[in-house]
Amino acid sequence: MADQRPRVWVSQPLFDDTVAQLAAYCDVVATPEITAHDSAALAAQLAGVDGALVTLNDRIGAAEVAAASQLKVIANVGVGYNNLDIPALSAAGILATNTPDVLTETTADLGFALLMAAARRIVESDRWLRDGQWGQWSFTTMLGTDLHGSTLGILGMGRIGQAIARRGHHGFGMKVLYHNRSPLPEDVEREVGARYAGFDELLSHADHLLLVLPYTAQNHHIIDATALAKMKPSATLVNIARGGIVDELALADALSNGRLASAALDVYENEPQVRPELLALRNIVLTPHIGSASLATRRAMVQLAVDNLQAGLGIGPDAGRPVNVVNADLLDSGTARVATSGGKTIIKKR
Ligand code: DGY
Repeated sequence: MADQRPRVWVSQPLFDDTVAQLAAYCDVVATPEITAHDSAALAAQLAGVDGALVTLNDRIGAAEVAAASQLKVIANVGVGYNNLDIPALSAAGILATNTPDVLTETTADLGFALLMAAARRIVESDRWLRDGQWGQWSFTTMLGTDLHGSTLGILGMGRIGQAIARRGHHGFGMKVLYHNRSPLPEDVEREVGARYAGFDELLSHADHLLLVLPYTAQNHHIIDATALAKMKPSATLVNIARGGIVDELALADALSNGRLASAALDVYENEPQVRPELLALRNIVLTPHIGSASLATRRAMVQLAVDNLQAGLGIGPDAGRPVNVVNADLLDSGTARVATSGGKTIIKKR
């Protein structure tokens, strides 16, 4: 490794100037166009490289890394990493990194934008007006639901959940309830203006429910027909987490039968496919997974992923232990394909 430049694969077009930083230290194979890599293509690309920059489109597990004997670090450009099979990567000694923090506020902004759009029927109004249906101003046109003074429910209270709570409590005077694996420390609860609630209490008290939890096998379809039936019929549901958290058919059914007033989804179970049952509804806002999609934030995410990759490979200006390792136990146990020495990662001699 000392006498050989590492090889790095970049799975999707990102920001060229940021990715170009890698070229100072590595041989970079970049994917020129947005590409849906299937399992075989991923396996072939990963087989010859030391590191990879990937996104949520790239599903990587045991089969994809089976022939990747050189691969040491996978840097995911995203905070959610359910596209990566972490136990399989750990078993192979491959470090995985993600990009938390830099996207927190941008994603919270989008959550709030979707909430306002759905509750106040903004997209529906826009479509109705463009369709030429606005004959005369009327007192009862497009009546929606207030945000101010209402109860905001947040399922999942990590960084993004807390940023949404602050917006709701301090900006809109909302009462904020949250449910999480464990309650926040009291001082954090006070600062964000939120109170812990049981799952059922959250569902039944929320005027608006935002889903911000990481997707796991345990919370697959946690918002199903039973959960939806516990919500107020006047409520709004917003999902900016991962599609698998919501049973989309049950949601479409509740929205079309008046058991839920409105919803907004930024994520889907089978992206980029969106169910026709959802597309047919007027009381749902649908966006194409743009939670972190501001220019500044997407650039920051790519920069952080590049930094993580370089640090993991022990190269570049910040060579050393990458800050956002998801499976850090590998480094601590010495089972990673890289090792740490003097606080820095080094490539193990093979
Ligand atoms: C993430 O970071 O997990 C987002 O969903 C991708 O922007």
